[in-house]
Amino acid sequence: MSKVKIGIVGSRFQADCIAQAVHAMPEEGEVVAVASPTEGHAADFARRHGIPRAYADYRELLRDPEVEMVSITAPNHVHARITIDAARAGKHVVCEKPLCLTIEEADRMIEACRTAGVLLLYGEELLFAPKYVKAKQLADEGAFGRVHLVKQSEKHSGPHSEWFWDVEQSGGGAVMDLACHGIAFCWWFLGKPKITSVYSQMATQQHHARTQGDDEAVTIIEFENGAIGMVESSWNRPGGMDDGIEVFGDKGQTYADLLMGNALPTYSEVGFGYAVEKAATTRGWTYPVFEEQWNYGFPQEMRHFARCVRGKETPVSDGETGRVVQEVLYAAYASAGLGRKVMLPFRPKGIAKPIDLWKMPERTTAMR
Ligand SMILES: NC(=O)c1ccc[n+]([C@@H]2O[C@H](COP(=O)([O-])OP(=O)(O)OC[C@H]3O[C@@H](n4cnc5c(N)ncnc54)[C@H](O)[C@@H]3O)[C@@H](O)[C@H]2O)c1
Repeated sequence: MSKVKIGIVGSRFQADCIAQAVHAMPEEGEVVAVASPTEGHAADFARRHGIPRAYADYRELLRDPEVEMVSITAPNHVHARITIDAARAGKHVVCEKPLCLTIEEADRMIEACRTAGVLLLYGEELLFAPKYVKAKQLADEGAFGRVHLVKQSEKHSGPHSEWFWDVEQSGGGAVMDLACHGIAFCWWFLGKPKITSVYSQMATQQHHARTQGDDEAVTIIEFENGAIGMVESSWNRPGGMDDGIEVFGDKGQTYADLLMGNALPTYSEVGFGYAVEKAATTRGWTYPVFEEQWNYGFPQEMRHFARCVRGKETPVSDGETGRVVQEVLYAAYASAGLGRKVMLPFRPKGIAKPIDLWKMPERTTAMR
């Protein structure tokens, strides 16, 4: 069967990652178009990655008959609109995390894709990160006995683009940006059990001048089988990106660290080009990563999604996954606002963005 023809919407950080990911495992997919609204950016991106066509407006990309699957790497607040437009144009959709801002948007995205008969695939690469996949294989084999605690943490010094700091565009701070990974991870790791409650402690510890968003949080997720997920998220950690898991069962445990654990402990007095995402310096002791995209699982994720489009595999991460995460994000912000754990199902109506539930906890009563 022919390669799945992919169009990327967006031309900066995550777009680069997706283009490199497809290039790294080229047997199932190829990028044939990119769209990005800033003058010249799409064309530069296309030149850099050897992509034949560049558009300024994503709707032009949706009219491109060769494009079969769209990868949305635009800011969070436009995910829903672009997904629905793409579905109506008959394109399969890969939407980056978090799925969208509201649960109503998630419902509309899922419905639009279902009606159009296209796949809605949710970009959560941690479900494809080789080290984390290995940890899950061990757990599924019974290596740890009954797993009762799964921890995931993602921390760095703060996002690279201005829109992340603007809660109107991002929907929230570190929880929206980083905890979405851990929520999906814990849920997937434990076999996608029902979630019964969420408790989150969050604060803006350092970045008051820049954002109304939370920049640090601990979120505890209770599952119906009694297991607990614990997700740490921070925009206050200098020294580059940190992403790790810990898994505990009654017969054993495992630890995995995606970045430092896949790096070369390195000392340099003069520095060098690149160590790891968001590292401010390469002088002194640093931990340069190698095969960064591969260790995150991006090439494996895009290959899997292309195979899903061809009917060769069943989606591991789809719109429903994104909606589960969205509900937990709502519950996490509401929990922080109310100062107590929030029971699921939790579907307050008419919320504009998750962080409103932290700032205005009275909104949580606009239930069901
Ligand atoms: N899976 C991951 O680990 C991961 C990592 C980084 C970002 N992301 C997600 O990817 C998305 C993009 O993040 P980023 O870091 O690439 O941001 P970015 O700021 O680096 O890039 C955003 C891109 O979207 C384009 N854009 C802005 N408004 C648009 C619109 N209305 N229509 C089309 N394009 C538009 C911008 O021009 C830019 O090219 C976010 O949802 C983010 O959460 C996921």
